[in-house]
Amino acid sequence: MALTKINPTKLPSWKKLVQQFDKDYDYHISDFFKEENNRIEKFSISWNNFYLDFSKNRLSNNTFKLLANLCEETNLKNNIDQYFNGAIINETESRAVLHTALRSSGNDEVDKTLNKIINISDEINNAKRLGYTGKKITDVVNIGIGGSHLGPEMVTESLAYYSRGIKPHFISNIDSDFTSKLLKGLNPETTLFIIVSKTFTTIETLENANKVRAWFIDNASENVIKDHFIAISNNAEAPKKFGISQDNILSIPDWVGGRFSLWGSVGLIISIVIGSKNFKDFLKGAHEMDIHFKNSPFEKNIPVVLALLSIWYNNFFMCETEAVLPYSQFLSKLPDYLQQASMESNGKSIDRSGERVNYETGSIVWGSTGTNAQHAFFQLMHQGTKIIPSDFIAFKKSLYGDSDQHEILNSNFLAQTNALMMGKSTSGEDIHKNIDGNKPSNSIVINKLDPLNLGSLIAMYENKIFTIGSILNVFSYDQWGVELGKSIAKEILAGKTVDLDNSTKKTMDQLKK
Ligand code: F6P
Repeated sequence: MALTKINPTKLPSWKKLVQQFDKDYDYHISDFFKEENNRIEKFSISWNNFYLDFSKNRLSNNTFKLLANLCEETNLKNNIDQYFNGAIINETESRAVLHTALRSSGNDEVDKTLNKIINISDEINNAKRLGYTGKKITDVVNIGIGGSHLGPEMVTESLAYYSRGIKPHFISNIDSDFTSKLLKGLNPETTLFIIVSKTFTTIETLENANKVRAWFIDNASENVIKDHFIAISNNAEAPKKFGISQDNILSIPDWVGGRFSLWGSVGLIISIVIGSKNFKDFLKGAHEMDIHFKNSPFEKNIPVVLALLSIWYNNFFMCETEAVLPYSQFLSKLPDYLQQASMESNGKSIDRSGERVNYETGSIVWGSTGTNAQHAFFQLMHQGTKIIPSDFIAFKKSLYGDSDQHEILNSNFLAQTNALMMGKSTSGEDIHKNIDGNKPSNSIVINKLDPLNLGSLIAMYENKIFTIGSILNVFSYDQWGVELGKSIAKEILAGKTVDLDNSTKKTMDQLKK
């Protein structure tokens, strides 16, 4: 079985949403509060350590009911079952999509890899696996790009508080200046390199790995590559040719997409940095969110509600973008991570039946941390001409217990969602100071930034992405769009420029001048 192939715009619920949009458009969010009883109870969800308040949205009761009907009419429940049961839902690559299995137990291949991750990270942290001169490993360098970089970097930074002491570094971009500077500060005797590439053909990663390998041979020796290099890949042969010993190759199953791969072998650096116990908690949190997603009714299902709001704003208000605004500096990489996860997944214009879509698919996802973002782009959010639906994410407790500063941080979080919704009328005074309000936001309040809750948070967004793709009838798990640029770059590098357009040729000449 595969996912259903239904054009959502042909459904009764969608047609009714079009009419409902006209009725609701002139409503101010604050009017909904005046007219609807129990709005907050209806439009909030408490689950485990999470509280989602979605009452500050341009969403009436009727719209919400119609959006829930849209889930029914697109067979979302059945599609969720297909996803978790390992159906070939990535049809264009004939693959199942089972990253959720990496955070649940019962699969031999998954358990075997998890044990390997735990063993390697425990051995490194307990100084049982040492560098070639017998010294403790102090630094780990992850060499990979896209899904083989963004997740591991985001999580190691987000959970820096839980670090066991080993310093993580990331080489992703093909920028020799950056890599040279990083290598200058590293000692080959105490550094472990992890080459992460599902295909082991990605040019940036292979070039960077070769540069690092040459540096290592110059500063240590080729004979000890086996002690300092680990490969994580779905390609069984290429890492061996690189000189990596079989014991140091961890697999990525075919059914794990790059941008959803941090739960398995790609997460090795995470487990090394935060320790295997914390890594297991991280997986547990994600698994718990999966269970919530699978079993909760749509109206009380956090990923589903977030997905429905995203579709509502993108397709009816034509918002185009949505912002992720964590009130925690540790989460500064979360927007970048979600950008790839969402935009590489749902940035499609052909539906699952092979037809060109006549509606909007993936939104542009961006964001930054509060309060920094307040001093950068919030002006446009408050008084600009665009509507930017946003997720505000805050934590009840600070990690180090500085409750005074944490209160300032969270007061800002509260103030911004309030100001966006309510605005301020200057009636008669300076019109430039008038703020209309009526700007939507979700408030996501989480007990504490810990491995368990971060696992749940990331799984929440992954399941939101699935839901959007499911309803909007696109294949979320391929990424053919990024392949074209890669092959043209190879041709340019090989000097094959005949097929290039004149503008690109001219720019190429400029680069050579
Ligand atoms: O950018 C395209 C992409 O294929 C991503 O989907 C993937 O995460 C990244 O390249 C890296 O690929 P690999 O892990 O095979 O090196």
